[in-house]
Amino acid sequence: MNTNQPDSAVDPGVGLSVDGAVATVLLDRPDVRNAQHPAMWAAIAGFLESLPDEVRVVVVRGAGGTFSAGLDLSLVDPGQTEVEGSLVATLARSDQEVVDLIGEYQRPFVALADPRFISIAVVDGYAIGAGFQLALACDLRIMAEDAWVCMKEPALGLVPDLAGTKPLVEAVGYSRALEICATARKVGAEEAGRIGLAQSVVPRAQLDSTLADLVASLVAHDATAVRRTHELLAAASGRSLDEQRLAERTAQVGRLRAVLGR
Ligand code: CAA
Repeated sequence: MNTNQPDSAVDPGVGLSVDGAVATVLLDRPDVRNAQHPAMWAAIAGFLESLPDEVRVVVVRGAGGTFSAGLDLSLVDPGQTEVEGSLVATLARSDQEVVDLIGEYQRPFVALADPRFISIAVVDGYAIGAGFQLALACDLRIMAEDAWVCMKEPALGLVPDLAGTKPLVEAVGYSRALEICATARKVGAEEAGRIGLAQSVVPRAQLDSTLADLVASLVAHDATAVRRTHELLAAASGRSLDEQRLAERTAQVGRLRAVLGR
């Protein structure tokens, strides 16, 4: 299944497809290093929010050897306010309206955390700013060994605002997350693997085979058992031990009945 976005006024620049249990989001603006813009976010959000139940894995990757160079910088260029989605033009609105609009932009980043499926970012080249945040929105990250990530926003006088701060802190801890953001430095794949940002770091030529092996492993077991386990793990950091224990045993009753047929 290929999904077009006929309602979008501008080309979203993203390929959206489903093949059995695997959906793929392909950022496809290689001429601008897969820079992101609101039409792209709307297309990805609409796609993820309406995925069929049989989809168990969502793969996010970029065309042309890079993941994403982040926000399309034409959107923050004061000289290009006529560009569709210009954030400069957006600032004519009230603060609350801008807050609400950014909430809309955050939709695909939130949708990638849906425990109905396991999301995997395949990071080739680099993932900068919104690109890094998109990779962070995924449950798992595979990186090419020469790839890097960078939370560039503070270097531009901005903050990371696409739902990336929470998964970053949860992946690497508060102090390392602060250091990575405040310095806006490049984090190479070797370090990313060492500090828990990437679950696999492989030679670029092995990205596809590594992804295929991971997907096969992720869909090998009962879909409901994996989903319930995913839900438990995703909610764990926001719960007390007693709340988590209750969630575990509640989920297990349903699983025991399903497995044992009672
Ligand atoms: N937006 C729009 N166009 C971009 C772009 C971006 N983010 N990144 C690269 N491009 C364009 C370049 O302008 C260039 O276009 P032309 O061919 O027309 O000149 C083309 O892509 C190729 O770029 P480079 O020649 O620079 O390619 P490179 O491989 O040598 O370098 C790069 C790639 C390191 C990504 C460099 O282009 C770069 O630093 N880009 C800007 C990255 C950036 O600052 N992103 C914003 C981060 S902040 C954010 O995402 C969120 C936020 O602010 C809230």
